Amino acid sequence: MRFVDRVAVVTGAGSGVGMGVALAFAREGASIALVDQDKGAGESAVQAAIAAGGRAIFIEADVSLDQGAARVAEQATSAFGGVDVLVNGSSTVEYGTVTELEEAAWDRVLDRNLKAAFLVSRHCIPLIAARGGGAVVNLGSVHSEATQPSMAAYAAAKAGLVALTRAMSLDHAAQKIRVNCVSPGAVDVPSTHQAAARFSSADPSSALAGWADAVPAGRLARPEEVAAAVLFLASAEASYINGSHLVVDGGLLARLM
Ligand SMILES: NC(=O)c1ccc[n+]([C@@H]2O[C@H](COP(=O)([O-])OP(=O)(O)OC[C@H]3O[C@@H](n4cnc5c(N)ncnc54)[C@H](O)[C@@H]3O)[C@@H](O)[C@H]2O)c1
Repeated sequence: MRFVDRVAVVTGAGSGVGMGVALAFAREGASIALVDQDKGAGESAVQAAIAAGGRAIFIEADVSLDQGAARVAEQATSAFGGVDVLVNGSSTVEYGTVTELEEAAWDRVLDRNLKAAFLVSRHCIPLIAARGGGAVVNLGSVHSEATQPSMAAYAAAKAGLVALTRAMSLDHAAQKIRVNCVSPGAVDVPSTHQAAARFSSADPSSALAGWADAVPAGRLARPEEVAAAVLFLASAEASYINGSHLVVDGGLLARLM
């Protein structure tokens, strides 16, 4: 168990990949603060984390707001005495070209994917430093490297997150805080099924099968395969890895056609 006596804060932990990351920390003995703006989803995820063996609390917060991010740091500290690891996973996707996207939609995507990582890091990094160091892992996406039509805001947000990762890795190295990014391809989680239904309302399962076929691995990722990369980068095994961007995509970005 790699995270006994360690405290992990995971944002966007109410569903999908973030929940998978929280459960993986629970199985490794961590105390986990699961953060989400969706109370029902967050409370169910906490029950699953406790069942998986972790000490876990739910913090209901909108992490795209500074007061929400501050509350995350305060409640994690009062429950567990500090923070060792932060995983920034909150996200939303809205589709459109730059001429189609409303300004508010652009702001929602940038705020939940990129600004939230800045705000929660702003409040948690002093706590990680106070414990003598630790790790931040940002959940990016292959869309930072290569994208699809109508993903302008999300692609820009995720590319920004890679740049933020690099900047933070320099700024906080002296505090012994490593900052890395994990970028999945398509993961088999509810949001991916919802996206398939949006692209092909008549036959979402054939859309999903088409996405799986496009991956050299021939399938979508399981959330625990993404979580494994996150936990590795958060662990002492990755003690010399800082500022890196680990793509977990079954070979998707390696394929030219
Ligand atoms: N699903 C995929 O195939 C995939 C692929 C590549 C990258 N990712 C990345 O992995 C992460 C998780 O993806 P997912 O598909 O599981 O997402 P999801 O939509 O299932 O979960 C995101 C969670 O973030 C929460 N959230 C959104 N805005 C918030 C806010 N302001 N404050 C607090 N919570 C907020 C949502 O309530 C939700 O529970 C994201 O960063 C996503 O970009 C996912």
